[in-house]
Amino acid sequence: MQAVVLAAGKGTRMRSSLPKVLHQALGAPLIWHVLETLGALGVRKPYVVIGSGAELVRKYLMSAALSSGSRPEFFLQRLQRGTGHAVMMAENSLKNYRGDVLIWPGDMPALRKETLRRFFQEHRRAGSTASVLSCLQINPTGYGRILRSGGRFYAIREELDASDEERRIQEVNTGVYLFKAQKLLKALKQIRPENRKRELYLTDVIEILSGQDEGVTAFPFADTNEGYGVNDRKDLSKVTQLLQQKEIQSHMEKGVTFVMPETTYVAKRVKIGQDTIIHPSTYIESGVVIGKNCQIGPFAKIRSGSSIGDGSIIGSFVEINRSKIGKKVSAKHLAYLGDATVSDESNIGAGTITANFDGKKKHATRIGKKCLIGSNTVLIAPLSLADGVKTGAGAVVKSGSRFKRGQVVVGVPARAVTKKHSG
Ligand code: UD1
Ligand code: CA
Repeated sequence: MQAVVLAAGKGTRMRSSLPKVLHQALGAPLIWHVLETLGALGVRKPYVVIGSGAELVRKYLMSAALSSGSRPEFFLQRLQRGTGHAVMMAENSLKNYRGDVLIWPGDMPALRKETLRRFFQEHRRAGSTASVLSCLQINPTGYGRILRSGGRFYAIREELDASDEERRIQEVNTGVYLFKAQKLLKALKQIRPENRKRELYLTDVIEILSGQDEGVTAFPFADTNEGYGVNDRKDLSKVTQLLQQKEIQSHMEKGVTFVMPETTYVAKRVKIGQDTIIHPSTYIESGVVIGKNCQIGPFAKIRSGSSIGDGSIIGSFVEINRSKIGKKVSAKHLAYLGDATVSDESNIGAGTITANFDGKKKHATRIGKKCLIGSNTVLIAPLSLADGVKTGAGAVVKSGSRFKRGQVVVGVPARAVTKKHSG
């Protein structure tokens, strides 16, 4: 199947210098969510219509890490003359295409692939020329309304052009459609900017096709939440919350406990092992991998590029950044581990800091196995500590320091106090 993603609009209501589709929900731009779901449905080369901030959107999508490996093709809509006009930008690529084309606005990230699959199936079963994915909204303000006569769907009416009676309709257009491509292109030639916004509305295609006795159907399959489009910052936070709930639920289904999910932030593309417990107010960025039987938080921040081995405890006010933490490591309170590798069974005392930044560059810290890092130790990178090294409270370990296995080091700057240790 072919898909056209509409992402040229300015997003005026966002009041932002950033194009709307690049605003982030759960650590990834809105359009990432759309392309990711499309990729999961097997659409590897979606057509993306860009316009406002076109270069930024293109640049982002060219470099974006899409797990589906999809490679979009871009179409420039110089002037944003409406959603129908936006689809016309892809005409040259669609004109020899005989199948169904899916249209998806780039500002609707919460739609689930299961819903879309059902939509595709029913569209085919009904043999429709045009199908619209609709949903019920308690407050339908701002959406196009689904007009039915005797139950039969025949048109979509935009808010601004609707009568008072039509405005009371709660079945709305999600902006997602399936069309027989050739019929769509033909109908697009007939739309006119005869509406309050003076735009070429894609929604007008429905009335045109239904007037030609083509099969048009509205399927109310999207639930209220996934049918949510982002127009302003309130919508953005709402959609982020919805995506967050879904994401955390999927971790729960895999055996992870969230003590207070509503206070927890877990980005997309995070892996968490079975029987790990995530305590309140924990913040986990995209790409993080956490093992089994870990305890994370409360108030922990685990940033991108980090992994945590099985059975480790990352406690309150601990920040882990671009670091690899081994198994059964404890860092229970107040620590910063950045660009660090901590090997199995080491204990990181309260107040430990890896000083990884010298003002110009970031440097790495390696902590061996079964090390005991005393409270308030500062480890100045680059630094590598052998297995079993113990640091005294308040030690400042200078970069490049070399100690033997099991040595105890104390002071400022830290020096070894014993030569041998039975560790
Ligand atoms: C649109 C639908 C409305 C539906 C709603 C669902 C129309 C006329 N209306 O309204 O029925 O209920 O979506 O969220 O289609 N875009 C372009 N080029 C343009 C204009 C828009 O690419 O010239 C893109 C935008 O970037 C956006 C999408 O199309 O991703 C929808 O545009 P938007 O202005 O948000 O439409 P709505 O007013 O929400
Ligand atoms: Ca919208």
